[in-house]
Amino acid sequence: MSPRHFLDIADFDRETLRRILENASAMKSAGRDGDGARAKLHGTTVLAMLFDKPSTRTRVSFDVAMRQLGGQTIVLNRTDMQLGRGETIADTARALSRYVDAIMVRTGPHANLSELAQNADVPVINGLTENSHPCQVMADIMTFEEHKGPIEGRTVAWIGDGNNMVASLMHAAVRLGFKLRVACPNALRPRADVLDWVEREGGDVIVASDPEAAADGADCVVTDVWVSMGDADADRRRQLLQPYQVDEALMARAAPDAVFMHCLPAHRGDEVTAGVIDGPQSVVFDEAENRLHAQKAILAWCLEAA
Ligand code: CP
Ligand code: NVA
Repeated sequence: MSPRHFLDIADFDRETLRRILENASAMKSAGRDGDGARAKLHGTTVLAMLFDKPSTRTRVSFDVAMRQLGGQTIVLNRTDMQLGRGETIADTARALSRYVDAIMVRTGPHANLSELAQNADVPVINGLTENSHPCQVMADIMTFEEHKGPIEGRTVAWIGDGNNMVASLMHAAVRLGFKLRVACPNALRPRADVLDWVEREGGDVIVASDPEAAADGADCVVTDVWVSMGDADADRRRQLLQPYQVDEALMARAAPDAVFMHCLPAHRGDEVTAGVIDGPQSVVFDEAENRLHAQKAILAWCLEAA
């Protein structure tokens, strides 16, 4: 039987995503010691975390998630591994599968994630690629619903780069039935394959270039860094994205009780003003906290411990 990977939100039906989100909330309510959480995994259950790129939240939240579930982690950086000397991803996946129970990976090319998953005998979890960041968006959905109730039928505005985060948000909009209004420069639109996927699946997603039109009446305004890890054209991006800063005037166009979200790390004065990210509508540290709870539920699902 093939392992239960968690690679993209698009791979799941609504029911499964809802089950994971409900479990995440239950685990959060139960607390770190509650409800036999620590007995969910065996003390010898190990998650390998493979990093090609830096991380603060993903690394720490997965590590703590495993500890709270009763398991353990091993952190691996590509440069310290034979991968860094040319060993294939496929052989790395086969070898790691003989030692550990699951693999979380943060890498650039999405093809690296696919190759790892195709060759691993244990679940593989996407901890961010250039294409998507599904664990973050699961935490974001959880955060939205804690503040605003069920997301179905509500409106989320994405302002800025058409990057990996908005791709996962588009997957979630389709699977969980919310409206997504994306405003980005024409040169930085989301990838064509994601737009095609949305078109095929029939989601209520509009991709345009006017930030004010996207923010109008929205229940949530989301943005992300202008220069993602691995982007080489920082100056060009800063220039293109200047009109897409989320400031107080843009937030004022959203619903009066709208929340502001950002996956972090943030650059105050670029994609968002300090007034917005440090202001009363910002829920960015709830998102950061919910990475822990959402990933406990994702791990439990992957390891069939839920
Ligand atoms: N949001 C997020 O993934 O943060 P890190 O890059 O710190 O892991
Ligand atoms: N879009 C950002 C997200 C960081 C968590 C990046 O890929 O760098």
